[in-house]
Amino acid sequence: MILPAADFIKRNSQFTYSIILIILIPAALVFNTLWTLRAVNRDVNLQLRREAVLVGSVLGNMSTEELKNREFLNKKFAKIQEEEPEIQNITVLVPNEENKFDAAATTNRLGKSGSDPVLSQFVWSSGKSHAAEVIDRTTNTRAWSVIAPIKDDDGKQIAMVDVKISTKKVDDVISRTIRDSIIVLSATVVIVLLLLINHFRFFEYARLFRKLKEVDEMKDDFISMASHELRTPLTAIRGYTELLLRNPTVTADEKATKDAKTIAAGSERLSDLVEDLLNVSRIEQDRMKFDMKPVKLDFLISTALNEIRVQAEQKGLRVELTPVSPQPNIMADEDRIKQIFVNIIDNAVKYTKEGSVTINQRVEGETIRTFVNDTGIGMSPEARENLFEKFYRIKNDDTKNIPGSGLGLWITKQIVERMKGKIFVDSIEGKGSQFTIVFPIQH
Ligand SMILES: Nc1ncnc2c1ncn2[C@@H]1O[C@H](COP(=O)(O)OP(=O)(O)OP(=O)(O)O)[C@@H](O)[C@H]1O
Ligand SMILES: [Mg+2]
Repeated sequence: MILPAADFIKRNSQFTYSIILIILIPAALVFNTLWTLRAVNRDVNLQLRREAVLVGSVLGNMSTEELKNREFLNKKFAKIQEEEPEIQNITVLVPNEENKFDAAATTNRLGKSGSDPVLSQFVWSSGKSHAAEVIDRTTNTRAWSVIAPIKDDDGKQIAMVDVKISTKKVDDVISRTIRDSIIVLSATVVIVLLLLINHFRFFEYARLFRKLKEVDEMKDDFISMASHELRTPLTAIRGYTELLLRNPTVTADEKATKDAKTIAAGSERLSDLVEDLLNVSRIEQDRMKFDMKPVKLDFLISTALNEIRVQAEQKGLRVELTPVSPQPNIMADEDRIKQIFVNIIDNAVKYTKEGSVTINQRVEGETIRTFVNDTGIGMSPEARENLFEKFYRIKNDDTKNIPGSGLGLWITKQIVERMKGKIFVDSIEGKGSQFTIVFPIQH
């Protein structure tokens, strides 16, 4: 059993991906900023501590006279502060009788050392310098404080120096970095959101596209099923109508003959349509078989022409085929070639009221071109644009009474292209059309 959440993720992978993205990108940014800040803080702290220790050690060696000479000390302090502006305060601490420490000299304007008594005591008794981070609660500022022992030339501990280095500069940089990071983070979140909105739009399109494909497949399945189902009863209708037309009782009756002929013509049209629909579903499902071998076009065109000749003659149209000689071979399926030319010639005859349908050929480079010309109704340039689309029929006064499904040219183009050929049309409205079918020559 799949858990509901896992099932949801599986079905909505796009959605889940988006959510991960919106959380992950800003989280990565925040993590990166915090990580960098931590590293900077650590490095700078280390640096400041080192500086404080250094200053402490500079002052660490003094004679008792120097220690008592305030002027000397103040000069020394001023020099150090000039070199190290980060130094907040330097205080020299000397022990008094109460075992506490007085500020012998200090840069603090109020004259106070501000030194931690516990720390001072610790350094005094251990004789070792000590660095610590101190926070001033009133101003909410940080500083590094180093208390180091001061020894005389004999190595005797005579005082201590307390150096405070302000971390204000670093803290300012850090808070500026945090502020900048928040701006970058907000901008990133906005960009990610915009990307996601776009992403969801595409996601919606993809969903629609999938749905459309499903509908298309359903339609194909329906066409294929319906055509097969229609075929059997239609064959029966056509067979029995033929029998009726040969039945003496029917042939003796003019009205009955006319009715039977109407049924015959109707069922003929229906079975053509069913055949076309079957072809469409075969092509769309890539089930159309092509038995490719070297063939000559002229013979196949003439067979196709013969199938339509009666219709043409009934309309009083002149039909003519002028093939090239010698006829080159092309690689194709014979039945499909016939199907192509039956469709094109059938159209030429169907959409021509008077005049002729002429077919001629030309070898051009490595191709053979067959032109099917008619002197029919022709078509406008706009109509020609959609000519090879499924179910497309030109609707005007000239065509309204001509039956057809609009599938013939779509099927023809698909078949031509599957045999590596090309088909195109030229036409002048009211004058006629020329369909050109090109196939590569097979040597
Ligand atoms: N030779 C032509 N002259 C003028 N119009 C043509 C010609 N051939 C095709 N057409 C136009 O192109 C349209 C599409 O042709 P197509 O052969 O695909 O369909 P159809 O002839 O209407 O039906 P069917 O599927 O039975 O062939 C036709 O409806 C017609 O308007
Ligand atoms: Mg047609």
